[in-house]
Amino acid sequence: MLTKNFQILANNHQLIKNDGADVIQGLTQTPKSLPPKYFYDDRGSELFEQICELPEYYPTRTEAWILRQYANEIAQITGECELIELGSGSSTKTIFLLDAYQKIYTLFRYIPIDVSAGILKASVLKLQKKYSNLSIDALVGTYEQALAQLASTASPCRMIFFLGSSIGNFNQRDADVFLHQIADALNPGDYFLLGLDLQKPKDILEAAYNDNQGVTAAFNLNILSHLNWRFQGNFDLNSFNHQAIYNQADAQIEMYLHSHKSHWVSLEALDLKVFLESGEKILTEISRKFDLAIMQKELEIQGLKTVKIWTDPQEWFGLILCQA
Ligand code: AVJ
Repeated sequence: MLTKNFQILANNHQLIKNDGADVIQGLTQTPKSLPPKYFYDDRGSELFEQICELPEYYPTRTEAWILRQYANEIAQITGECELIELGSGSSTKTIFLLDAYQKIYTLFRYIPIDVSAGILKASVLKLQKKYSNLSIDALVGTYEQALAQLASTASPCRMIFFLGSSIGNFNQRDADVFLHQIADALNPGDYFLLGLDLQKPKDILEAAYNDNQGVTAAFNLNILSHLNWRFQGNFDLNSFNHQAIYNQADAQIEMYLHSHKSHWVSLEALDLKVFLESGEKILTEISRKFDLAIMQKELEIQGLKTVKIWTDPQEWFGLILCQA
């Protein structure tokens, strides 16, 4: 009954296909870095959910406010279409969109996509209970895998949405490639809805990534636990400290794991041994903060024309709806 309209396409083991080549690359270059997608094993996704509830972490609740205010308007503008969500996680904010579309249109299709099979399964079961006439096709995979698959399948009108400002994890060049892939997965007239964390004073930003309860620190360190189990590693989490700073010049939060002793680490499954100096930092994430006018131009270059922009009263967060 519960699983009537739902299938999980692909399986857990395909999750990160390149078998750690990106980890090897990140840890053997100077300065060292790790791809942020490795935050999101099941534990990491849980910790991220906790981050979203923190008093200091304003993006989630600000974006939720905008969605609650304007979901009906979004649904009116796009008309009936299938809803495709990249990095859906718990789909908590998606509820506002699903409610709005459900009110106006009868039967529709929702395709949540996430690298974490655990959280995807849990949220699909929850949604299936709430929306009995919604057909859900969940997809476990990376954005690249998902977009490649979407680009190759025919579809009625679709809206791809990417909330939470996760596009901030990409540097400028990778973001351009990503937007290009989005445009490729859309037909003329289809929509793309993008959530963006906007530039604001440094103290507010740094507080959001250095919460008092230490949840963000735990989230950052968990990337090492994930690598330990996935690649038979021996990272000692006690040898690292969490650090997050706002780089004003590049308008981005930079999150690091700071090694406070010099030591060797090995990842057996990758046949990799790396040496960390005392004081050496591994960059685990950038989180860019955006300017709406600039992003509008970048979307336009990829053939995605802005239809409407919404923000909260403080202009801390923005939602851009654009059309291919
Ligand atoms: C999910 C990438 C949008 O950048 O704010 C939260 C991840 N990292 N706290 C962000 C994150 C530390 C988050 N994104």
